Amino acid sequence: MSSNPNYHNANNTPYGSGDPYYSASTGYITPMPMKKRTSNWLKIGVPVLIVVILGAVLGGVLGTRASKKNSDSSSSAQGDTASGAAAASSAVSVKNAIGVFPTATNSQYLLPIYPSATNTAAFTKPTFVPSNNAAIAWPKDPFQPSNPSKTTTRTDRPRIIAPAYKWEVLPNLIASDPYLKFFNDTIFGNATDYYGLQPVVYNLDGGNGILDNAREIKERVKAFSYVYRMTNDTKWVDRLWTELQNAVSDKFGPTDDTKWNPSHFLDTAELTAAFGIAYDWLHDIWSDDQKSTIRSNIITFGLNRGVIAYSNSDNKFTGWWTNNTRGNWNCVCNGGLTLGALAILGDDTTNTAEQILGLTVDNAVTNCAQAVSSDGSWRETANYDYFGTTGHAEMASALMTATGSDFGILTSNKAYGLNGLYRMYVDGPGSLFAYGDHGPPKFSTTANAVLLYGDYYNHPEYVLFQRDQHDAPEPWSMFWYNPSVSGAFWDNMPLDHIFEDPDTAWTSMRSSWTDQNALYVAMKAGSLHLAQNHNDLDDGDFVMDAFGTRFIGELGSGDYLSTNYFSGDNQDDDRWLYYRKRTEGQNCVLVNKQNQLVTAAPTAKGETDNTAQGSSTVFDVPSGSTAYWVADLTSSYNDVTSYKRGIRMINDRKQVLLQDDITASQSIMWRIHTNATVTVDTSGTSATMKIGDSTVVMTILNPTSEMKITTGDAVRFSDDPALPTGQVDQPNPGVTVVMINADAGTKSIQVLFNPQWEGMSSSDFKTPPSVALDQWTLTSHN
Ligand SMILES: *[C@@H]1O[C@H](CO)[C@@H](O)[C@H](O)[C@H]1NC(C)=O
Ligand SMILES: *[C@@H]1O[C@H](CO)[C@@H](O)[C@H](O)[C@H]1NC(C)=O
Ligand SMILES: *[C@@H]1O[C@H](CO)[C@@H](O)[C@H](O)[C@H]1NC(C)=O
Ligand SMILES: *[C@@H]1O[C@H](CO)[C@@H](O)[C@H](O)[C@H]1NC(C)=O
Ligand SMILES: *[C@@H]1O[C@H](CO)[C@@H](O)[C@H](O)[C@H]1NC(C)=O
Repeated sequence: MSSNPNYHNANNTPYGSGDPYYSASTGYITPMPMKKRTSNWLKIGVPVLIVVILGAVLGGVLGTRASKKNSDSSSSAQGDTASGAAAASSAVSVKNAIGVFPTATNSQYLLPIYPSATNTAAFTKPTFVPSNNAAIAWPKDPFQPSNPSKTTTRTDRPRIIAPAYKWEVLPNLIASDPYLKFFNDTIFGNATDYYGLQPVVYNLDGGNGILDNAREIKERVKAFSYVYRMTNDTKWVDRLWTELQNAVSDKFGPTDDTKWNPSHFLDTAELTAAFGIAYDWLHDIWSDDQKSTIRSNIITFGLNRGVIAYSNSDNKFTGWWTNNTRGNWNCVCNGGLTLGALAILGDDTTNTAEQILGLTVDNAVTNCAQAVSSDGSWRETANYDYFGTTGHAEMASALMTATGSDFGILTSNKAYGLNGLYRMYVDGPGSLFAYGDHGPPKFSTTANAVLLYGDYYNHPEYVLFQRDQHDAPEPWSMFWYNPSVSGAFWDNMPLDHIFEDPDTAWTSMRSSWTDQNALYVAMKAGSLHLAQNHNDLDDGDFVMDAFGTRFIGELGSGDYLSTNYFSGDNQDDDRWLYYRKRTEGQNCVLVNKQNQLVTAAPTAKGETDNTAQGSSTVFDVPSGSTAYWVADLTSSYNDVTSYKRGIRMINDRKQVLLQDDITASQSIMWRIHTNATVTVDTSGTSATMKIGDSTVVMTILNPTSEMKITTGDAVRFSDDPALPTGQVDQPNPGVTVVMINADAGTKSIQVLFNPQWEGMSSSDFKTPPSVALDQWTLTSHN
């Protein structure tokens, strides 16, 4: 292959031989190899034994502190008291003695692995230890305008996200907080890696424009700017300047003001943010000429295009995202424009920055700020939560640091204060409950917004959870992380949560927060048309993890470039022709092999006994502990007079029961997708699913004569309506569909999943009684 039409070089002609990093064999751009780094988790992590011993040694100190905290139920982070000061100094020594909690990162899912520590007093109730001690807490921001205005900024720099007063104390905080130390070390390592790479090569791909480029540049800008400010070594400034120059050069996109691809405005917004951060964080080192160049780049390629977008809000390329879009686009686009505008405000003599702030902030309050539903769930998908909350948190944080107010970005929808719950419960030990589309690569996108939300809404448990995640180490975390946080997120954290907003209803249940082999199930119902075109037709869809492996899972995105993939979400829209978006591509029930109805309005209810983990990472599920959730999915189907799907954990969270009580006038087909090797027994009512050495046995309880388990490939039915001309489904290699067919009529399909836990004999498994879903209670299956 001598050129690839999907990639364009500086002259906007297909990328080919002669262009840097072009690979003739694949037709793709070959990235420079990244230097291999050993995991810092491994270097810094504390061996199990030390934690246990420390727990014993420090038990007295910590026990005292914990009981003090426990008797003080309003754990406000402000104010210093005698007990607060004592707690603060013990907190520093304890923090350093314990270090970073996880001992390693799971290689497949990148989840933190916690030491097995029984009876330790170290992992106590999540709290922000009240302190003014600069060694463990941020000072109060000296900039407290009595009457904040969007266009009046603090007078010192930086003003975006990381004000000067925070840089001043950061070295002290790094010295006393193992997490800040770990983040700082990692950012230095990342910046060093990026330093040796060529500037990001322009790569216009039809589906995501230059979004990957934009986010990669932003990631580098943040790292270079951070390391410069921590070292005063101007080599970082020079390298950053090279990166900025590249992104406005003739090699990078068209040679007019559409260089940053405003027809896919996310790209424009992320580059505007990147340039804004560079301008603001290094304001004192850039020459006047450099500042003038960056400002004019921000205005020409970013802010002016924003003004054009706002005056074309009916245009499906340019400005649609300004109008009634409660999702990641509104957050990222408004966020990027806002960062760019705040950066140059005061230096910009054209007034474009003021004009943009007059547009973005109110628009984001109406749209972006409503992108989480009332229970904290992201309205799009669990993956899009990363993009949306990153845009939202950057915008909120930049406004607060630069102007002294969030102007409603955080306060107009208090449900952002619950988004940390969404984040925590949507992660299973076999990865994310990744329903719907997964989105493009993340680069500078992380879940670190919950560090900001946890601090702002006073939820220390979010902060404690997120600081252990693989994406925590990055520059924003250095400023959003509140180092006065103390305790362990799992202490007193309920194993289950029921998310009740009908738009986004779903539930999550598990057997442990800290055992990577825990049993986990999550199931969703909710609207099928409020997710900005990123959802599937998947009411009743669920995932199951056991043994640190996803046993029943999701297929993910279709090809964003396929014809009419984003055509809309009416029932007859082409999106619903693609297997991965159809109901048959989900872990759902089909009736007459048809898609679910986009008009679905399911209702759901459930109960949990609120079992919470204690301070130990080793957790024994108490006898009888359970939760269940039942969704009424009648409205999701044609040919159905009633249909409820319920899921519950039984036998002290060692087994899962999934039950479908349905009356349908057409044939019924139950389906799940699994990476397991599946063997069906001769009776056809039981099957063994194996992934590696791990086994889950599934059995139909009380089957009617026609209910038999069969298996097949994850492909469309031969009698499905045709795909758009020339289109194909994404292949699903290694995935097996397990099916149960049932005739039309009134059926109760009860499937029991028995993970074959080590040391558990067949007599230890329970066979639950048959109970109609309407009669399910917490004790109905004891
Ligand atoms: C940040 O990390 C770098 C690289 O490990 C290190 O040299 C530097 O001293 C750290 N900064 C502080 C304040 O500890
Ligand atoms: C930063 O470096 C760490 C440690 O090598 C690595 O795991 C991580 O993927 C890097 N992050 C980015 C964004 O490059
Ligand atoms: C960098 O320079 C600033 C301003 O002169 C100074 O306050 C700071 O201490 C210096 N930092 C380092 C790491 O040298
Ligand atoms: C916003 O979108 C609605 C439909 O959702 C449309 O009726 C309206 O004209 C649009 N407004 C603007 C200013 O484009
Ligand atoms: C198969 O494994 C991959 C990688 O872990 C995962 O992303 C995917 O969801 C799994 N598929 C199913 C159907 O479980």
